[in-house]
Amino acid sequence: MTATTSAWHESAHRLAEEMAASGILRSPAWRDAVEAVPRHVFVPRFYVQQPDGQWTETSADDDGWFAAVYRNEPLVTELATTTKGNRVTVSSSTKPGLMVRMLEALDVQDGHRVLEVGTGTGYNAALLTHRLGADRVFSVDIGASLVDAARCRLDRLGLAPTLAVANGAEGLPAHAPFDRIIATCSLPSIPWAWAEQVREGGLVLVDLKPSTHAGNLVLLTRHADRFEGRFLPQWAGFMAMRNTDRAPEATGFVGEVNASRRSSTRLEPTPWSSLVPWFLAQTRFPGEVAFGYRGATSSGPEWAVFSTPDGSWSAVGMQADENGRRETRQGGPVPLWDAFDEIHATWDALGGPAWDRLGLTVTPDERHRIWLDEPEGSVGWDLLVQ
Ligand SMILES: C[S@@+](CC[C@H](N)C(=O)[O-])C[C@H]1O[C@@H](n2cnc3c(N)ncnc32)[C@H](O)[C@@H]1O
Repeated sequence: MTATTSAWHESAHRLAEEMAASGILRSPAWRDAVEAVPRHVFVPRFYVQQPDGQWTETSADDDGWFAAVYRNEPLVTELATTTKGNRVTVSSSTKPGLMVRMLEALDVQDGHRVLEVGTGTGYNAALLTHRLGADRVFSVDIGASLVDAARCRLDRLGLAPTLAVANGAEGLPAHAPFDRIIATCSLPSIPWAWAEQVREGGLVLVDLKPSTHAGNLVLLTRHADRFEGRFLPQWAGFMAMRNTDRAPEATGFVGEVNASRRSSTRLEPTPWSSLVPWFLAQTRFPGEVAFGYRGATSSGPEWAVFSTPDGSWSAVGMQADENGRRETRQGGPVPLWDAFDEIHATWDALGGPAWDRLGLTVTPDERHRIWLDEPEGSVGWDLLVQ
């Protein structure tokens, strides 16, 4: 052990202090876990993307590695190359403050059996194992080499939860039932397979995101005939679930921004400018929406472009005119931006409700009903499950 890494107890303590001071880390049991698990063991290297798009690697031999690992920041830990030769993120160590916020929200009690979907580095599995014991923690990842590496790191610390290479959308039926499921990647919908593996009264915490930036963490209770619960008040974003152990291929708009269906909008053209209405608009879109930019001006990209697999697309000018309006152009079967504009107006008319007023009910027929304030209230939207 080097002089730096031998100081990890102090660094883990400082990280815990910082999270406790900001009110994220509240329970003594999770505080003990954060102080007892050395994050540097789980993050032997990380990657940072530079302004030119290239990635740089920082590993245990580099200055700054140790300090970065004990900061309350997410770190990209695994890259893969797409068929077009682009290096993309496939795994990361989640921001500790977000992980702890989720673990606190999950209301884990002694004796609970927990399934984690998205083992990644193994750090969160280590926190869970410290809290519950190895025989009560199960964690799956679609990346075989990620699971191998996580197993070795956990083993070094004498921790042996059950790890498996699996598509987390299917859960881990051989080890069900669970009291809790926590997913650390986002899913486009809630798999009913999970309901079959969580006991009645059990909880599931997952980042529901049918499209990029479109959704949030939702805490669902397993009832006899449904999952039901509310979105967490604070927005968070995880990397999207993959269906294979490979780099996700970029999908997106391949056509030309042309003059068909011209109009204008007063709304900002980026999904993160209107997170709640952007999520609600998923109930109108004909599939997953890819987001990107087109064209270049001296002050940045010319267009924000949105497209769905059926060939619908919208482009919205990044620069507003003197009246605050932006040009829109749309093509294909569904005018995506008009659909968003309409739902934004509905949301405005409802008083612009934030995440804490939204909830979700999922039934065995896979219906995903988003509701305002109460499950049986008069305002709701049905999510199109892809
Ligand atoms: C943000 S990382 C998880 C961080 C992790 N909990 C930790 O403590 O380091 C997301 C992980 O989800 C995994 N993942 C993506 N698709 C998956 C799938 N279908 N099933 C299981 N895991 C998946 C990725 O390989 C990645 O490791």
